[in-house]
Amino acid sequence: MELIEIVAADRNWAIGKDGDMCHHLPEDMAFFRRTTLGGVLLMGRKTLDSFPGGKPLPKRINIVITHQKDFEREGCLVVHSVEEALSLAQTFAPKPVFVVGGGTIYRQMLPFCTKAYITKIDTTFEAPDTFIDNLDALASWRVIEESAPMEQNGLSFRFVTYERGSQ
Ligand SMILES: NC(=O)c1ccc[n+]([C@@H]2O[C@H](COP(=O)([O-])OP(=O)(O)OC[C@H]3O[C@@H](n4cnc5c(N)ncnc54)[C@H](OP(=O)(O)O)[C@@H]3O)[C@@H](O)[C@H]2O)c1
Repeated sequence: MELIEIVAADRNWAIGKDGDMCHHLPEDMAFFRRTTLGGVLLMGRKTLDSFPGGKPLPKRINIVITHQKDFEREGCLVVHSVEEALSLAQTFAPKPVFVVGGGTIYRQMLPFCTKAYITKIDTTFEAPDTFIDNLDALASWRVIEESAPMEQNGLSFRFVTYERGSQ
């Protein structure tokens, strides 16, 4: 199973504030949609709650991780640990599996990821409270593809693909 992190981050690898994103980039949302459609999503309960209406994303399998034993949400598969999430995701092979946040899930899943799609936004979000690991500081990760910079809503951003090597 290939596990892929997909996330948009600022220059300091900040990704969110007060349970929400710090930016609005329709181009990035379109990239996220076309990349993940038909795949399996792994997410924390707070990220599910941040989606419109707290609803799962359509045309994808939504696996939600929570400690709450009685948690239920229409259209979601609920698990209670990283291990359970990984073994459930595996049953959908060969569908690709995407780690879609938030901070706690990116951190716990990164050791199992072999690829990452990072939308690098060339800005510094104001007072963010959620961050991911800086892949540029990890020797095992390297950039394999990088788009030209794009502009939208006054923000400059690039799509950067990383791969984890054997180091
Ligand atoms: N920029 C981006 O691309 C992007 C993408 C996604 C999210 N975000 C942002 O990230 C923020 C949310 O991230 P977050 O770190 O606060 O929350 P999160 O990772 O989405 O969810 C945290 C919750 O997941 C559950 N959980 C985590 N690890 C678990 C484990 N090992 N076993 C069982 N349950 C576990 C717990 O749910 P319970 O409390 O129910 O037990 C925990 O409270 C928001 O600001 C969101 O907008 C940004």
